[in-house]
Amino acid sequence: MMSPYPKQPQISAIPFQTFIAEFSALVDTNAGETHILQSGKRLLSDLVKTDDWLPDSLAKPHPQYYQQYLLYCDPEARFCVVSFVWEPGQETPIHNHMVWGLLGQLRGRETSTDYDRNMHQTGEAILKPGDVAAVSPTIGDIHKVRNSDDGISVSIHVYGADIGKVERAVFDPESGASKPFISGYANA
Ligand code: FE2
Repeated sequence: MMSPYPKQPQISAIPFQTFIAEFSALVDTNAGETHILQSGKRLLSDLVKTDDWLPDSLAKPHPQYYQQYLLYCDPEARFCVVSFVWEPGQETPIHNHMVWGLLGQLRGRETSTDYDRNMHQTGEAILKPGDVAAVSPTIGDIHKVRNSDDGISVSIHVYGADIGKVERAVFDPESGASKPFISGYANA
C-alpha cells in the first residue's frame, strides 16, 4: 500500500527498522489498546535505550518552538512515529490526543504533567533516557510536556493514527476552555 507520505524519511539504522517491523507486527494482530500499549511500551523502551540511530536532520531544535519530525507513518495510518526536539524551557500547551500515544525519552529529560478535564493536576512523570509513558482517552489523555533539563531533549512518540491528521484540542489552564488544533510535522 502507498504511504500517505511518499517522501517520509528512510531511516535505515537497524534499531529503527527492527522497531518498525515489530510494531507493525503488533498492530497486525488487531490487538486492543491495552495490549498495544503494554507490548508497544516494551518495543519503544528498547528503541530509546540506544541513541545511535536518529539522523541529526531529524533532531534539530528550533530556537522558538519545539519541533516534531515525522519519522514513519504506517501505510494504513494505524500508527506513526515522531521525534520531538526541545530547547531547554520549551513546552507544549495542555493538550489531548484522541488516540493512544507512547512517549519514549531518547535524550535529556522531559516532564509530562497529567490533568483531568477540570484542569486539576492528576500526576507527573519525569522521563529519563529509556523511560516510556503512555496516554490515551481510556487511561488519561490530557497532559503537558516540557523539557525539564538544561540541554536539548529528544523524545520519540508513537500514536495510534497519523497524528498530523487528528483533530484534537488544547486547553486553557485557567478556564479549561478547549480550542481545536491539528499538529504539523516540520519535515512533511
Ligand atoms: Fe502529548
